[in-house]
Amino acid sequence: MPQPHLRVLLSSSQIQTRVRELAAQIDADFPDGPVYLVAILKGACFFVSDLARALQRPARLDFIGISSYGKGKTTSGEVKLTKDLDSSIEGANVLVVEDIVDSGVTLTYLMHVLEQRKPRTLRIAALLDKPERRLRPVEVAYVGFRIPDEFVVGYGLDFAEDYRNLPDICVLSDSRP
Ligand code: IMP
Ligand code: MG
Repeated sequence: MPQPHLRVLLSSSQIQTRVRELAAQIDADFPDGPVYLVAILKGACFFVSDLARALQRPARLDFIGISSYGKGKTTSGEVKLTKDLDSSIEGANVLVVEDIVDSGVTLTYLMHVLEQRKPRTLRIAALLDKPERRLRPVEVAYVGFRIPDEFVVGYGLDFAEDYRNLPDICVLSDSRP
């Protein structure tokens, strides 16, 4: 069914191509041994499942829950851990997998929490980056796409929990019904 309030920004095939490129880059330059993927719920669920399967090296998968947004389109500035990891990451080569870096508030908080657990490596892969919106500096080692300051949904990204299952990443216009 056509959805006039959605405009495709990145098609599913563009996303798949880029995810394979990121996986090749991670395979090439991550320290030897398994990669411990830490995906941030819920937005990164599709990205991490495609990325994990595109990696050639062994990977472990864990999830962490963080909430920084209410039901709106901007951060509340308040971050809380809603689900912790299942296992220790001490000594592990950790790749934090995130859907989008916006203000940087969420990742700044999470990196602080994870650093204290003494992983051997701690890097970030983010599918999308909106650099114009940054309030806190965050070092993102692997970025899928830099996008303009527009609110996007699909491929895991939501607006008030809707649209996560769209295969493409779309700009959500304010004129939605
Ligand atoms: P930050 O703390 O402002 O960097 O927020 C990052 C989180 O905000 C992401 O994990 C997303 O859940 C959410 N977010 C930021 N921008 C968008 C967007 O354009 N669409 C959907 N969610 C977004
Ligand atoms: Mg999120």
